[in-house]
Amino acid sequence: MSARTLLFIACLLTTCAHAAEVDGRSIALQCTGCHGTDGNSQGKTPELIGKAYDQLARELKKFGAGRKHPTMMDRVVRSYTWAELKAAAEYFASLDEFARD
Ligand code: HEC
Repeated sequence: MSARTLLFIACLLTTCAHAAEVDGRSIALQCTGCHGTDGNSQGKTPELIGKAYDQLARELKKFGAGRKHPTMMDRVVRSYTWAELKAAAEYFASLDEFARD
């Protein structure tokens, strides 16, 4: 294996390691279009603020496994990795309930 190939592989590995660090807040921002700012929904979409991490994760897993019949969350879940959904759920669970309107 040439030095160039090794360098290429090393770059790939670092990119992967970097991609594994998911920013929960930036993923969560993509959820707020439907779930409201900070998951504080004003409409029919369920609120995400005030829910514990385990509860959010359980719902997301259900959508992913087709165990729940959603209108759109099955499609949302399919467009993210579990690491990204986990990071978003951690972010929503970390929000301060007192920050609600
Ligand atoms: C296109 C609009 C839309 C987007 C974007 C969206 N959601 Fe949802 N979400 C919904 C709707 C609508 C429901 C109610 C279930 C259904 O009908 O699919 C829901 C339900 C949920 C639930 C279950 C809540 C409960 O207590 O029943 C969770 C958890 C959730 N979404 C998390 C997320 C996360 C995390 C993201 C971002 C990665 C996200 N959603 C992005 C529309 C959306």
